[in-house]
Amino acid sequence: MGKFINVRTEAEGTIGVIELNRPKRLNALNRKMIEEIASQMEAFDNDPRIRVIVLQGNERAFAAGADIEEMMKESPLSFELADPFAIWDRFMSVNKPVIASVSGFALGGGFELALHCDLIIAAENAQFGFPEVNLGVMPGAGGTQLLTRSIGKRKALELIWLGEHISAEVALELGVINWVVAPEIIEEETMRLAGKLADQAPIAVRLIKEAVGKAEDLPLQDGLTLERKNFYLTFDSADQKEGMQAFIEKRAAHFKGE
Ligand code: CAA
Repeated sequence: MGKFINVRTEAEGTIGVIELNRPKRLNALNRKMIEEIASQMEAFDNDPRIRVIVLQGNERAFAAGADIEEMMKESPLSFELADPFAIWDRFMSVNKPVIASVSGFALGGGFELALHCDLIIAAENAQFGFPEVNLGVMPGAGGTQLLTRSIGKRKALELIWLGEHISAEVALELGVINWVVAPEIIEEETMRLAGKLADQAPIAVRLIKEAVGKAEDLPLQDGLTLERKNFYLTFDSADQKEGMQAFIEKRAAHFKGE
């Protein structure tokens, strides 16, 4: 539990939930809050009982961006010395699957936070966008890179230059999010998907995340080699034996993450 986040577990302690909790400011992300989120995510990543991490806001906002009031006091030198956005690199090192469950606003740094997650589920009332240009600045926590890798240069420029919000439906069509559901069922649907992922073989899930994550960075042959090695590695796990044995015995597999 932090000052700006609530933390709980679900599904017999296998799903770790981080809820952004600064509702009066639409979950605007100040430095302390980002630090709390990163530390909690690492704690869940290191907890062997946790298999999936869920990041969520409230009905009105996932997060309406970086805290503008806090940020407006900065200078180039204060930014350079403290390098406050470097902390975002910690989100890239999480090995477990992370699902963003988005209702309401996911703007600027809030959209960037969702883009740092592996899967995004949104309620029909969700709005995504990069309004930084309207403030005379630009995304600084990964937006230009992660959005462009997700939807391509032209669409990314359209969104980041115009600074307009897009609906969950449009975000789905663009392929930037995975699912859109009615606001009344987003919590339940998030937990259903997280639960399904939590039941998969954790070692395979982890090795898949690594291989898919590298697909955009590595030359094809290097990516294929990494995939092959990760595939071979799964054969060192008890879960591979259990998964294949369960198939032969026509029963459901029970994976232990070993
Ligand atoms: N920073 C600080 N405070 C914020 C905030 C933010 N990003 N977003 C909202 N708030 C505050 C508002 O100032 C307001 O506070 P008061 O009640 O004290 O006046 C409160 O949250 C509620 O917001 P609104 O009254 O504005 O609510 P609304 O429904 O009328 O509008 C909104 C909602 C369209 C999201 C509007 O709040 C808004 O435009 N927010 C800013 C969005 C933005 O520009 N985000 C980008 C930030 S820069 C960034 O993120 C850089 C980066 O890459 C890391």
